[in-house]
Amino acid sequence: MSSDLASFVAGLPKAELHLHLEGTLEPELKFALAARNGIELAEKTVEEVRATYDFTDLTSFLAVYYPAMQVLQTADDFHDLAWAYLERAHADGVVHVEMFFDPQAHTSRGVPFVDVIGGYRRAVVRAERELGISAELILCFLRDFSAEHAMSTLMEALPYRSWIVGVGLDSDERDNPPAKFQAVFARAKQEGFLTTMHCDIDQVGSIDNIRSVLDEIGVDRIDHGTNIVEDPALVALAKERGLGFTTCPISNSFVTEQMKSDEIVQLLREGLRVTVNSDDPAYFGGYIADNYVALAEKAGLDRADLAQLAINSFEASWLTPARRAEYIARVREFAG
Ligand code: ADE
Ligand code: ZN
Repeated sequence: MSSDLASFVAGLPKAELHLHLEGTLEPELKFALAARNGIELAEKTVEEVRATYDFTDLTSFLAVYYPAMQVLQTADDFHDLAWAYLERAHADGVVHVEMFFDPQAHTSRGVPFVDVIGGYRRAVVRAERELGISAELILCFLRDFSAEHAMSTLMEALPYRSWIVGVGLDSDERDNPPAKFQAVFARAKQEGFLTTMHCDIDQVGSIDNIRSVLDEIGVDRIDHGTNIVEDPALVALAKERGLGFTTCPISNSFVTEQMKSDEIVQLLREGLRVTVNSDDPAYFGGYIADNYVALAEKAGLDRADLAQLAINSFEASWLTPARRAEYIARVREFAG
């Protein structure tokens, strides 16, 4: 990697819009939290943990991802997880972040909702004060749980609504189409939340799910979603709506055969609001700057392209128009 490219990317002010807090659990922190909570882990070394990261698809990733979360028990654990990520993101030039969290992955094992959101919120406030990063939380429903469970989670979240900017949908897409959550998302909108949904890469029925997310759910953003290139009419619709796409190149190369750089760059060239993000950086071995660099190297992007991706990250964000404009001016000033 050229050090010029790496330092340009690190200095570029950028927003991260597709980041699962639970996906930032590095093996070292996993061991520290296990020790703190008196949990015995099957793996004894960082290398042994990393050796289990042999993913071939989304399902095999999720089979490692959820069990690891057992070390997260207290509000302090959630704070420490989010804080470690925010410090790391700060080093990568992230100035604004909208972070997913999966409350059902914790409440379903007996951790109170308030401990999850309370711990994360403490890190959000601290990041603003100590790092100058603005951070928001997006509550993700697990799509392999029932719609009723999602609805009751939404109700549980209402007292904390001022700490949650929007809701999303993640986990295993197979047999769990967007329409299953139509009522939950309609209610979330009524309650004032912005909405996004994962349209994971190369799923059975990916393009139908993307169509449904646009037509039936009416989301404000799409996570991944690059299979949209299969239908030019949908690409045109997404462009007309100014819809943001939160792509994750390194993650793509773990759960499929490739980074999907051709699709990402095609959408970028067609003028869609394509952004670059890290997804689950502890598992896929790359934080946001690594993702910008990996895509640039694979697709031959120049500095203007990278600056456009950073501008897109603010345009697709859920900041106010005035804050977006401020950050975009900072990108232009940096990129020249
Ligand atoms: N949960 C964490 N990362 C995810 C992804 N990339 N897709 C679906 N669910 C997830
Ligand atoms: Zn994701």
